[in-house]
Amino acid sequence: MCGIVGFTGTGEAAPVLLDGLKKLEYRGYDSAGIAVMNDSGINVSKVTGRIAGLCEKTDNGAKTPGTSGIGHTRWATHGAPTEENAHPHLSNDGKFAIVHNGIIENFSSLREELKSRGYVFESETDTEVIVHLIEMYYKGNVREALVKTTNRLRGSYALGVICTDEPGKIFAVRESSPLILGVGVGDNYFASDVTALVAYTRNAVYMEDGEYAELTNDTVKVYDCTGQELEKEVSRITWDVQAAEKGGYEHFMLKEIMEQPAALKATIEPRVRDGKIVFDELKDLPDVLKNIRKIVITACGSAYYAGCAGKYALESLGRIPVETELASELRYNNPLIDEHTLLIVISQSGETADTIAAMKESKSRGAHVLAIVNVVGSTIAKLADHTIYTWAGPEIAVATTKGYTTQLSVLYMLSIWFAQTLGTKDVDTGYYVNLLKSLPRLIQQSIDMNPSVSGLARKYHSNRSLFFIGRNTDYAVALEGALKMKEISYLHAESYAAGELKHGTIALIEEHQPVIAVCCNERLIEKTLSNIIEVKARGAKVLALTISGNKKIVPVADDLLFIPPVDELFSAAVEIVPLQLLAYYVAKENGCDIDKPKNLAKSVTVE
Ligand code: BG6
Repeated sequence: MCGIVGFTGTGEAAPVLLDGLKKLEYRGYDSAGIAVMNDSGINVSKVTGRIAGLCEKTDNGAKTPGTSGIGHTRWATHGAPTEENAHPHLSNDGKFAIVHNGIIENFSSLREELKSRGYVFESETDTEVIVHLIEMYYKGNVREALVKTTNRLRGSYALGVICTDEPGKIFAVRESSPLILGVGVGDNYFASDVTALVAYTRNAVYMEDGEYAELTNDTVKVYDCTGQELEKEVSRITWDVQAAEKGGYEHFMLKEIMEQPAALKATIEPRVRDGKIVFDELKDLPDVLKNIRKIVITACGSAYYAGCAGKYALESLGRIPVETELASELRYNNPLIDEHTLLIVISQSGETADTIAAMKESKSRGAHVLAIVNVVGSTIAKLADHTIYTWAGPEIAVATTKGYTTQLSVLYMLSIWFAQTLGTKDVDTGYYVNLLKSLPRLIQQSIDMNPSVSGLARKYHSNRSLFFIGRNTDYAVALEGALKMKEISYLHAESYAAGELKHGTIALIEEHQPVIAVCCNERLIEKTLSNIIEVKARGAKVLALTISGNKKIVPVADDLLFIPPVDELFSAAVEIVPLQLLAYYVAKENGCDIDKPKNLAKSVTVE
């Protein structure tokens, strides 16, 4: 996720653009840039790193005079966070500058076409294909060129564009990425969200998909793709800046839980082509696989638990033995890792020291390393032989949610890709691709079908300890569910394989002991049901997470959370959502600092 801003008015543009970018920095902060128009043309200034560097480079905008311009703060998806890849990008003829938030799924083919037509690329970004298309289609009318350009694009985009033939005018286009216009007095704005606008105006026009806006200092016009001008309502922004950064949610964690359907969509859709999984980033991996005899997954925290859940799909579809190892343990276990091992490293930040150390140890033993990372250009991404990015956008809350579920979606895609590449017998990859594509919708359903979760939190928030139990894929979910509860609500929570309880731990079950039973794996529900009955016989109170409408669990459980039916191999990404929400609301009941839990860090870069 990136942040874009635009300004046109009677005053200097650069200071307003820089201020707006500072407010959007939470959306992405690995590089930034502005493009300002004046009599000498378009003046572009870009930096890697934070907005502060851009302020310094432009002397707070003094070095880029002009009264209209656009700006961008980047969360890298295509191309490392370098100055060349930073936005704004210029057309070859220097007439156009563009900023973009979103992902262009068909950028590879467009890039090849444009290159064959003689267009020269300065960056590795998907965005740059857009500005060259605009130049190619421009015949004197910018909006017409924008319509022809966007007709060629597949994916999501919020665009800001300026053109030297239209001094004082800024253009904005919206498709599946948020874009809001700010209506001022003698000046007008656009931005990715209201955070960047509220300091200047509280009059907002929310653009819809397929709309094209043209702003001058005293006019705001919005058109559809046919050139028909649209009547747009001006809304009053009531949020304060802090609330706006969280999109109106009280905490980043809740915002990021709710973003999961969109995050999975962004991670999955660009990799599904003609009913198959395509990883452009894994070009020579098929040859490597010929010598691979086992897969070892290593990570820390929730990333490790994502590996534990993804293991079932990888083994079932890829038919390669998969081991999971905590990174902080692997490096001291004298691991049986060699050139016949594929090490899969999972890390949201790409900077976790234990994971980096385990990766280096494994590489030294000959392993081939595939990384699943959210932060482009991070240490782990650079060290790996192959990297698949989870395009979850920046995750601000320390306790990961969309990071974990997008890691799972990549593991699911990888399991299908293995089946395709290795030709696993009797695996209907088409079925699993369709199942994968349904995950964003199923996650949204698992949010919508549990309106009572905040009420349940009031019932469970004061317990000294909670048990999370489950079998197979449900056990992997119980591991992550217990960790979420511990790390943000500070309640002691223990996850157990449900079948293991009777071998000792059940001694701890006493009257009113809460047990959260994860029983969504239809194949094993009867077994977990017997464990629920076992603990209830000893006085436990059972909150069951199960499939909506399940007739066996519902009569037995004291409380219930539901998910829609989903195949066990890919169910963890759906099952975890009600447990994320439960942990969130329990923590809220306990008055915890949810986005910054005590003693924790978003990424632990020390061992
Ligand atoms: C912990 C974080 O410090 O590190 C967890 O609080 C995370 O949320 C774990 O799962 C691993 O971090 P990463 O960045 O390697 O996934």
